[in-house]
Amino acid sequence: MDLREKLLANGQEHLIKYLTDGDFCARLHEIDWEMLALCKQVEPEKRGEITPIAGLRLPEIAQRRGEFEKLGVEAVQREEVAAVLLAGGQGTRLGSDAPKGAFNIGVTRTLYIFEQQINNLLEVCKLCGAYVPLLIMTSEKNDEETRAFFAEHGYFGYPESYIRFFKQEMAPAVDLNGKLLLEAPARLALSPNGNGGWYSSLISAGIMQDFPSVKWFNVFAVDNVLQRIADPVFIGATIASNKRCGAKVVTKANPEEKVGVLCLEDGLPAVIEYYELTPEMANARDGAGDLCYLYGVILNYLFEAKALEEIASQRIPVHVVKKKVPYLNEEGNFIKPERENGYKFETLILDMVKLAGSCLPFEVAREKEFAPVKNRTGVDSVDTARALLAQNGVIL
Ligand code: UTP
Repeated sequence: MDLREKLLANGQEHLIKYLTDGDFCARLHEIDWEMLALCKQVEPEKRGEITPIAGLRLPEIAQRRGEFEKLGVEAVQREEVAAVLLAGGQGTRLGSDAPKGAFNIGVTRTLYIFEQQINNLLEVCKLCGAYVPLLIMTSEKNDEETRAFFAEHGYFGYPESYIRFFKQEMAPAVDLNGKLLLEAPARLALSPNGNGGWYSSLISAGIMQDFPSVKWFNVFAVDNVLQRIADPVFIGATIASNKRCGAKVVTKANPEEKVGVLCLEDGLPAVIEYYELTPEMANARDGAGDLCYLYGVILNYLFEAKALEEIASQRIPVHVVKKKVPYLNEEGNFIKPERENGYKFETLILDMVKLAGSCLPFEVAREKEFAPVKNRTGVDSVDTARALLAQNGVIL
C-alpha cells in the first residue's frame, strides 16, 4: 500500500496534500497505525484479580538499616548502580516551556530543580566515596536546552564523565476523532512518547558500554525535589529481597488519595490507578488496622538490568491519554487549546514493574522524600514543594 492509500484507509485524507514533502513522508512511514487505532476504543483497561502486596515497612527498614546500607554502598562502589533521571516530560501543568529541571525552586537564592537533584545524589557519592553514572533522558523538545543548561552551570559540580544524555522517542497526537494533528504545514504534532520508553531509548543510544558493570538502574522523576537517588538502603534492601525490582512507596494519606497504588494483579506486582480501586477496596483494612491497598508509588524504582534485558522484547502497553495539544487548524492558524482537544499515546514506566515479575515495596517517609512539583499552585505545586524543602533544612 502506498502512502496515499494508507492515509485514505486510516481516515487521514486531510494529509494527502502534503505528500509532496519528503520529510513529511518519511515521518508518515514511521507511524504505527495499529497504535493510532487504539484511540477509537478508549475504554477502561480490563484488570486481572487485584490483591494486596506485602512490603517492607519503616520499622523493619530502621532495624535492618546497617545490613541494607552496607550492601547498597558496596554495589555503588563497584559501579553496579546507575541513576536514570526522567526529564523528557513537557511539564504542561507547570505551564513553562523550559525543561522542568531548569525551574528555579529557590526563594532568596537560585536553586534549580536539577541542581537540587544533583545535590541529593552528591550526598550518596560522598557516603560511598564513588560516583554514580547519571543517565539523563531528554526529548527532542528539550534535549538541546537541557544539555546547554547543565553545561552552562558546570554540571552542578557533578563530574561530566559520569553524565550521559539520551533522547526518548516521539509519538504523534490525534484529535478526538482520530485525525493526526499538525503543528505546522507538513509537520506532525509530535510529543514525547511517555516515560515507559526509557530503557529502549537508553539502549538505542549505545551509551551503556561506557558503564559495563551496571547491574541496577534507579529510575526517578525530575520533579520530586526531595528524591533520594541511588539510596544505598533501598538498593541493599532490594538486593537482599532477591526481587527483580524495588519501588519506593509512601503510605496513603487517606483511602481516597489520588495516587497510583502498588498491589498484585493475578499474582504479579502491578501499579493501578486510584480510580481503578473500588471504594470497598480503597477502604479495606487488614488485621492491624492498616489499609490493605496502602502503598502509593512516587516514581522511584530500582530495576535489575538482567530483568530489563529479558523484557526488552515485550511490548509495553500503550495508554491513550486525553490532553491539550497545540495544533494547526484548517484555516492554517496555530491554536493553543484551552481544553483537551486530542489524544497522545504514551507508555508508562509503572507497567514495567509487572513485566519485571517481582517487586519489593519499600516504604519511605512522605515528609522526607516526597515533594513533587507538578502544578504552579495548589496541590503538588511549587509552594508545597518549597515548604517541604524548608522543613527538611534546605535553604531556599
Ligand atoms: P509526568 O507524568 O508528571 O509528566 O512525568 P510531565 O510531562 O512531566 O508533566 P505534565 O503531565 O505535562 O504536567 C513524570 C516523570 O516522567 C518524565 C517527566 O519528565 C517526569 O520526570 N517523563 C514523562 C518523561 O521523561 N517522558 C515523558 O514522555 C513523560
